[in-house]
Amino acid sequence: MDKKDKSSRIKGFYKLSLEKRRQELIDLGFSTFENLQYFNPETALALETAENMIENVIGTFSLPVGLALNFQVNGREVVVPMAVEEPSVVAGASFMAKLVREGGGFSADITDPVMIGQIQILDVKDLAAARDEILEKKKELLDSLDDLDPILMELGGGPQDLEVRIINNSAIGPFLVVHLYLDVRDAMGANAVNTACERLAPTLEAVTGGRAHLRILSNLADRRLARARCVVPVASLAFGDYTGEQVRDGIIEAWAFADSDSYRAATHNKGIMNGIDAVLLVTGNDWRAVEAGAHAYAARFGFYRSLSTWFKNPEGDLEGKLELPLALGIVGGATRVHPGAKAALEIMEVKSAKELAEIVVSVGLAQNLAAIRALATDGIQKGHMQLHARQVAIAAGAEGDQIDLLVRYLVKENKVRIDRAQEILLAWKQEDSKK
Ligand code: MEV
Repeated sequence: MDKKDKSSRIKGFYKLSLEKRRQELIDLGFSTFENLQYFNPETALALETAENMIENVIGTFSLPVGLALNFQVNGREVVVPMAVEEPSVVAGASFMAKLVREGGGFSADITDPVMIGQIQILDVKDLAAARDEILEKKKELLDSLDDLDPILMELGGGPQDLEVRIINNSAIGPFLVVHLYLDVRDAMGANAVNTACERLAPTLEAVTGGRAHLRILSNLADRRLARARCVVPVASLAFGDYTGEQVRDGIIEAWAFADSDSYRAATHNKGIMNGIDAVLLVTGNDWRAVEAGAHAYAARFGFYRSLSTWFKNPEGDLEGKLELPLALGIVGGATRVHPGAKAALEIMEVKSAKELAEIVVSVGLAQNLAAIRALATDGIQKGHMQLHARQVAIAAGAEGDQIDLLVRYLVKENKVRIDRAQEILLAWKQEDSKK
């Protein structure tokens, strides 16, 4: 079959059967039959592979993988696999990506993939002198790591810089912390950074006369930031009885709440992470590392606040921005071992950690918009009930056009229950048989 126009805007995708959705993806050139087999329970992560990933393995655990549609990231059409147990996440991201398309899609970029390693040095007699000594020998120290990873160096990565901090702690007194900045290219970087820190520690002991204690990366990867930006034309925000201006201003008011109150910010940022984690999970990335970095970054000004920003731009449209540390990899770890992770990267046609981060940060922004748009208008439950009603309708036996009709009935009556759905279906059947 000829490949159709490759667009992530696939109309009526949600109405198709699972098999037809897969066929559509293949027809559009987003995936192949073989690739999609890695999302089948029987042919997904093999027990033997799982055995080599962690300890004391007793089995594997599955989650649904849904596809977020409508995404345009830096002009590229991309469909985004998401592994998540929560309803509304995939639908929310897809719907917001559709609105954002009308404003030109997401633009995203990331800084160089520079990770931070920390080496704690205790028992230093003269902290200031030791710091100066390290800085004086900076080049030598960095050069000593040149053979750390020849492939990484060849790809343009490797040690970039060193910084020294003096930290005061009331329990153990002052100590030195050396920050090693390492460009890890397409890796998440934990292994490279930890190895580098352990390699550097004895030399730092010799230079300072102190005792190197912890040698570990920092998950507050604030030298490896990802940023996304989007515009939603104000007219596209209008729905039901709401004008575009009302929705826009409601979203900005919702953001302002999160930006000035940590209680609200925690939930607001959780909404962002709903999208981010789902993509991290399906690509085998360390979502705990990203979670830790994101929340630490959200508190960088001394109190915990929103990771995103929403405002009215000079044209009167809604503009949003999201910035957070994203330490992602497409080489090493589960990203290479887990066949589903490889398949997910292929579906997104991701060739570098940079491209993956650009998609992930865009999904985070879309997810945030979905949540605060709902909260600022009808409230979150209405959409949830709609999706829940769909599941109930299908479970009750509705098929084809019946599904949408039954969903409307159940929601309107506010009786989203399987017994009621079955009752309605039976009534329809009886009516039909009389015709
Ligand atoms: C639910 O998983 C996420 C939300 O609570 C996010 C938010 O409140 O912004 C809806």
